[in-house]
Amino acid sequence: MRPEIKISASILAANPVRLEEEIKRIEGVAIDLIHIDVMDGHFVPNITMGPFIVKGIKKITRVPLDIHLMISHPEFYVKDFVDAAGEGDFITFHIETTRMPEAIISFIKSKGLKAGVSLNPLTPVKSIEHLIESLDMVLVMSVNPGFEGQKFIPDVLPKIAALRNASPDKLEIEVDGGINNETITQIVQQGANVIVAATAIFKADDPCAAIRTLRLKAKEAAKR
Ligand code: DX5
Ligand code: ZN
Repeated sequence: MRPEIKISASILAANPVRLEEEIKRIEGVAIDLIHIDVMDGHFVPNITMGPFIVKGIKKITRVPLDIHLMISHPEFYVKDFVDAAGEGDFITFHIETTRMPEAIISFIKSKGLKAGVSLNPLTPVKSIEHLIESLDMVLVMSVNPGFEGQKFIPDVLPKIAALRNASPDKLEIEVDGGINNETITQIVQQGANVIVAATAIFKADDPCAAIRTLRLKAKEAAKR
């Protein structure tokens, strides 16, 4: 059995000057994770939030954080994020960005946080096979990282299946990019259990209803 279904709300599509309100609103539907997209304008062509914002968010919510680092040289910055976050929170970095994934993973885990590695749509599962045993999570990007509101790339579906095959019941498999009420079914059927959504939640008329629907669809797909 795969780990339980979790919905991770990406605040990239939330109102940036009303973040506290936006987060409090979705706490009402027991959101599982708050996904924080950290972009450096180097690995990806956009700049977003840093440890300062993570620290602020940590003060206003008890929902575990799911920090997605889209930055070059995560080894230089991981300590700042570990310090800003807390035990049990996830920190995920991209395999394309560093030559020292093992050291970063052990550092994150030694501080009581959960470690994840992410793969761009064109990066093969083979590039992280040797790390799977040491990882809590693998994040499969289903759009090219950088922006919310992009279209889901179905070519990544076999990668999700391969990862679930490699770890039937332990690994958290997260999928990020272009997830909505339709695409969610396919990714969960392939074995994903952590679902990221920005647009589908924060641009919906009723974000709480949107989360309930996504969770329901994911649970239905997981049964099949
Ligand atoms: C994209 C980010 C995603 C993004 C998803 O680079 O990693 O987390 O916020 O946005 P949607 O759900 O709108 O595709
Ligand atoms: Zn993300």
